[in-house]
Amino acid sequence: MTAPEFGGEVSEYYQRYRRGYPPAVADVLTTSFALTGEDVVLDLGCGTGQLTRVLAPRVGAVLGMDPEPAMLAQARTATSAPNVSWLLGADTDIEALTPVVGPGRLAAVTVAQALHWMDHERLFPAARSLLRPGGGVAVVTNGEPLWLQDTGWSSALRELLSSFLGTPLHRTCGTDPVSQTRYADALAAAGYVVDSQVISYDAALTVEEIVGGVFSAMNPSQLPAADERPAFTERVREALSPFGPLREQVRVRVLTGTR
Ligand SMILES: C[S@@+](CC[C@H](N)C(=O)[O-])C[C@H]1O[C@@H](n2cnc3c(N)ncnc32)[C@H](O)[C@@H]1O
Repeated sequence: MTAPEFGGEVSEYYQRYRRGYPPAVADVLTTSFALTGEDVVLDLGCGTGQLTRVLAPRVGAVLGMDPEPAMLAQARTATSAPNVSWLLGADTDIEALTPVVGPGRLAAVTVAQALHWMDHERLFPAARSLLRPGGGVAVVTNGEPLWLQDTGWSSALRELLSSFLGTPLHRTCGTDPVSQTRYADALAAAGYVVDSQVISYDAALTVEEIVGGVFSAMNPSQLPAADERPAFTERVREALSPFGPLREQVRVRVLTGTR
């Protein structure tokens, strides 16, 4: 299986423009699953490694797993931690890890900004046999999509992108309350003790970062041609210029299910 939506140039935009995670996210995971330097964590749907890199200093080893080779290639280049291994695979492949890591050997399976691509009803029970007691599953989301936020500049961006793509934009990537409740209910149904925390911070954004973030969320077939991208950036700059300095309230949601 591959995830062609994240192939080619999209993986480059993803690595360059997607936010990393603040250390407070690793603090929450360390406390929730009592992580130590002896532990091994699987970061499933690791993409270009934003969460993998934050976890690496907290544990003995991290396995970053993703079905898209281009994302893994970016992750490998961007990561210097010596205790990370990169695996090509999807959520449907995690049982195959049992003979490799051993049953009950993982301290956590983290899924950051990626669960909406997976079959969570199947994944949560399947992960249990890989987890040590006190370990668990963490579902992390990294703020609302740039075009779905409750600000003037985000509304203007939404309008511009809807017109560019010829379709209304409403995909929330699992950040909305309905998805969060669905994931929490599925964790509880699979026998996990569920908790959730939100880490919130304010950050400035440039137009280039917004355009890069938008390109990182497009299917490669939707990207404007390379020679049209400067004009696209100027359209965004013009549409967002009435809104002054661009800022984002980033809410990182960490939903944990402890075994
Ligand atoms: C939006 S990125 C998230 C990357 C990173 N975890 C982060 O927090 O920024 C979603 C990732 O999920 C991967 N993905 C898509 N389908 C998947 C599946 N069935 N199993 C595992 N990962 C999958 C994609 O290749 C992509 O790298």
